[in-house]
Amino acid sequence: MPPLSSATHSTPYRQVEANFAMFFALALQIYQSTLISDDSPFDRSAVDEHGIPVNLSASAQRGMDIFRDSHCALCHIGPNFTSSAVVTNGILQKLNPHAFGNSTFRVSTTTVVTSLSLTGGMMFQDTGFSGTGVTPVENDIGLGGTDPFGNPLSFSDQYLQLLGGNVSGVVDPYVANVRPCDLDTSIAIESNNPHPLFFTRVDGIQRQKQNTVNCFNPAGIFIPTINAALTELSKPKRKRFLSAANGSFKIPTLRNIELTGPYMHNGGMATLDEVLAFYTRGGNFATPPKEFAKIFALVDLRLAPQKRTDLLNFLKSLTDDRVRYEKAPFDHPEIRVPHGHIGDNSSITKQNPMNASLAADQFLVIPAVGAAGRIQPLQSFDRFLQ
Ligand code: HEC
Repeated sequence: MPPLSSATHSTPYRQVEANFAMFFALALQIYQSTLISDDSPFDRSAVDEHGIPVNLSASAQRGMDIFRDSHCALCHIGPNFTSSAVVTNGILQKLNPHAFGNSTFRVSTTTVVTSLSLTGGMMFQDTGFSGTGVTPVENDIGLGGTDPFGNPLSFSDQYLQLLGGNVSGVVDPYVANVRPCDLDTSIAIESNNPHPLFFTRVDGIQRQKQNTVNCFNPAGIFIPTINAALTELSKPKRKRFLSAANGSFKIPTLRNIELTGPYMHNGGMATLDEVLAFYTRGGNFATPPKEFAKIFALVDLRLAPQKRTDLLNFLKSLTDDRVRYEKAPFDHPEIRVPHGHIGDNSSITKQNPMNASLAADQFLVIPAVGAAGRIQPLQSFDRFLQ
């Protein structure tokens, strides 16, 4: 038996043993953060002065233009193809304001919350999360849920509390640091007239307390007074202070997307063709946070199969062959996955090393892969359906 953990505790486990699940998860997280997939054709291509690849295959090259013009890059932005990588994308955006999105659009990725004009009014949205209408909100509330202590998972819901003066409603410290002038859209405007979407002097406005260095939206330095915010929050039908958390999901990376099906939070789409058909028809459900200005029916793609093929080829240009062949550092040791017990529904084999009368465990073995990788490449998910 291990030594007692301390003089005052009689638990026969050490800290690291008693909290094994947490330590294991931290170790896994740190290990996984060393696995950077940055050797796909997209990464290998020569780039122009804006960092945009210029020698992908002709089809993938056209597909990249479609990716940018169809607004995919507004959400799947930056080196990780997701705005949920806030820090890396924030840095990227400072270097290159278009962050290789469409040059007529800029999106703020430097702060954890943003404000957008969405279905039903002005909505606060956590950067890196979106409602795209894969499933109805009542099926899965997603980011709108709470943690086991009842605190909102969403930064936006906490930010609304903060604007209403409820400082103790902020459990994640980043939320208190949000500068209103870093949001995509202003919350309040310096005007003497009422406005259905923005707070004005009529409601009561004040200047943000933080500095205004390098603001994303220099005009967005006004916020409602606490009283104006509370008045809005108490309205049954709000237009200016909505949260887009319910039914929003994390924007996934698109790196190695060819190999990571089935797709979406519910695994509801087996192939990338199905995903493109989903965007082409404008999503599955009209959920409240659905970013109608970004997720809309892409008629252009519907009528032009070649364009869908090009977009698909662009997505496939994000596959790193080291991942496809599980070459170092993407190799792994043998993994034994518990798979019930040896036997069937009427009898089992008694051989368990813990106790001779217990059923012997059965394992599925995923064989070790050496640094040189596997001979047969990993396949896309739908191959397993055939
Ligand atoms: C408004 C933000 C937004 C836009 C615009 C957008 N996406 Fe997405 N994308 C998401 C979100 C959020 C998900 C995950 C949705 C879910 O799980 O329910 C997703 C999922 C995906 C997936 C599946 C990823 C996985 O691992 O399951 C692919 C592929 C994808 N998007 C490609 C595209 C393409 C191509 C476009 C342009 C036609 C596009 N996206 C436009 C937000 C967006």
